[in-house]
Amino acid sequence: MNENIIHITENFVRDTLGEDSTGHDWHHIERVRKNALYIAKKEQAGDTFIIEMAALLHDIPDAKLNTSKEAGERNLSDFLQELEITEEASSSIKTITDLVSFKGGNNSRILSVEAKIVQDADRLDAIGAVGIARAFAYGGKKGQQIYDPGLEIRREMTEDEYRTGKSSSINHFYEKLLKLRDLMNTDTAKEMAEERHQIMEQYLHQFFKEWNGQA
Ligand code: ADP
Ligand code: NI
Repeated sequence: MNENIIHITENFVRDTLGEDSTGHDWHHIERVRKNALYIAKKEQAGDTFIIEMAALLHDIPDAKLNTSKEAGERNLSDFLQELEITEEASSSIKTITDLVSFKGGNNSRILSVEAKIVQDADRLDAIGAVGIARAFAYGGKKGQQIYDPGLEIRREMTEDEYRTGKSSSINHFYEKLLKLRDLMNTDTAKEMAEERHQIMEQYLHQFFKEWNGQA
């Protein structure tokens, strides 16, 4: 029963996201799902059905993929309504996708264990080798520079500034990616984030060495 629902959801997500190249493609979703299920298993925590469903659906309401935030939320609600799941399951899934699609870093809301796990899984995919690739892919698509020494790096930003401000892909590391390790909720994700964080540090070190023309 649950397997069938997961299958229907997979197809819906694949069709909706299609070939998006801002970093919200189907492969991102698959990695987030894998990370989330891995964390859940390691931590022996959470309802795996809710975790898997929320991981699959977490980018559906994202404003970037819809004409508006409301349109994205409606798209998700309409889909969930068609499924044979309880009202409770549907509402847990919506709460998680809502949280995860809000990109503003810290939030003081009390999270369910399922939400913590999916949030960690999504954040893990923004860092490390894959995270580096995604940052430059996103920057290229948006027409932003690889790096702009004239642009101020803003470590503290509001959600609005983050969404609309001018940035460069290298700036994005300082504005967001290097902070994610310390924002992980679960011990498993903290551990997984460590190596990915180191790789970004090393990468930036080498980047600036080459940028400055040092051998
Ligand atoms: P996610 O899909 O992980 O929930 P986002 O929608 O914020 O996150 O971003 C999608 C991808 O694009 C992430 O890998 C993120 O790091 C990257 N990204 C977002 N904003 C920028 C930016 N201004 N410059 C470079 N990369 C960015
Ligand atoms: Ni995502």
